[in-house]
Amino acid sequence: MMISIRLGNLSGTSPAVVAIPVLQSGAGDVTPAAPLSGEVAVETGIFLADSGQAGKAGSAGYLPRPTRTPGKVFLCGAGTGDEQGWRMAGAALARIARREPEFTVLLPEDLADSALRGLAEGIWLGDYRYRLRAEKPDEERRIESVHLAVPSTPQREEILRAAGIVSGNTNFARDLTNTPSLIKTPAWFAEQVRLRQADGLTITVREEAQLIEEGFGGILAVGQGSVNGPRFLELTWSPPGATEHIVLVGKGITYDTGGIDIKPAEYMQLMRKDMGGAAAVCAATIAAAQLQLGVRVTALAPLAENMVSGSSWRSGDVVRHYGGLTSEIHNTDAEGRVVLADALAYATAHLEPDLIIDLATLTGAARVALGTKIAALFYGDEELGLSLETASAEAGEHVWRLPLADEYLKDVFAELGDFNNAAGNPGAITAALYLREFAGPLRDRWAHIDMSAPAWASQDDGELSKGATGWGVRTLVRFLTSRTR
Ligand code: BES
Ligand code: MN
Ligand code: ZN
Repeated sequence: MMISIRLGNLSGTSPAVVAIPVLQSGAGDVTPAAPLSGEVAVETGIFLADSGQAGKAGSAGYLPRPTRTPGKVFLCGAGTGDEQGWRMAGAALARIARREPEFTVLLPEDLADSALRGLAEGIWLGDYRYRLRAEKPDEERRIESVHLAVPSTPQREEILRAAGIVSGNTNFARDLTNTPSLIKTPAWFAEQVRLRQADGLTITVREEAQLIEEGFGGILAVGQGSVNGPRFLELTWSPPGATEHIVLVGKGITYDTGGIDIKPAEYMQLMRKDMGGAAAVCAATIAAAQLQLGVRVTALAPLAENMVSGSSWRSGDVVRHYGGLTSEIHNTDAEGRVVLADALAYATAHLEPDLIIDLATLTGAARVALGTKIAALFYGDEELGLSLETASAEAGEHVWRLPLADEYLKDVFAELGDFNNAAGNPGAITAALYLREFAGPLRDRWAHIDMSAPAWASQDDGELSKGATGWGVRTLVRFLTSRTR
């Protein structure tokens, strides 16, 4: 259940529990974001003077006042007040006040729209957790409702509603990604997306027989070692009057053992997350429908489980993709690009996209290059790249460009087949160059995001709750929204 967040003036009531966001100014002073009065103003002032860190984005503090009203004051740092600072403040608040069923956040009357959006998203994202066990007694008391003490206006209500859609779908992507692969088969994944279907969305799920008939050889090869057969999911939001068609492709490996080129145990432990790209593109498309965005969006999710068995694909195989190009398999652990290749070829041949963006937990090399917090972004077209960079910066999801360096292009060609699926170092770049070949004539209106590392958080960190991060949903929804203006 999502926390209920509402807007409105304080109107003379004195809430029992309040939260006060704190801002840092350039000179290093910290000030409450809302005008305060009386004892709370004095005590907050003393607290802030004593603790130099109180305004830092994502920091939190607590002033107990057991015999007075309000009986509890929480403080949360919003940094210098940009959207991401407010998002971190909201998440910090959701954690420090996690056992308060309800509280009121004191805010300035002229709160900026970006601050409201960040704060609300932060509360919803920071409150998220994934459990399959029963809640422990101390986890049972949770936040139920939060009152944001700013005047309600139609515009603010709309921002809050959109933030709820973005956060709810990010948490949906997190749920999918956190789910163990014992449950999460390709068929299960497709069913979860179908169950979440919003008005106006259409979903098509191709099963094995149809994949064989239509020649999706990459998805079939990767999936053939598993008793849980592959699927190809196509989700479409097509509003009347839309001019642009954006195709989002997400890697959907529901578990990656590496295949016959098996991974060492410690690298395999978290490989249930290898469908984070598919989760993000599906969640973003559902959000586009719920927001009624005026742009046509298709999400494609090739879903397969990369297993080790007597029926597994092998190194040395040549796989025939949708549309006829072939891959010579040099490593069965480079399976993501092989399923994505089918989806890219299908999009290019059939969907008449204006833009194609793929998201994939594709390479360990992207993590080596950029660490755990930054996704690698590849593009040829500057306008497309810039608008993705802008969307991700606003969304608080960091991307950094890596080059589609033609110096390495010859490495992705093969002898027996057209392309080598494991062309070697630099691994993130050769993977991207391989994918580009399948975008065919759309290669210059295609972008690729390697999100292997930021798909997962090893601990609670700002708006990211430990585990699956739902990386990409916020960036994609921002990006899609920007295409409607
Ligand atoms: N799913 C992995 C990449 C990955 C690694 C994602 C760590 C998240 C965290 C991918 O399928 C893979 O195994 N890639 C190989 C490719 C190599 C064999 C060419 C890699 O990066 O080592
Ligand atoms: Mn792999
Ligand atoms: Zn993989």
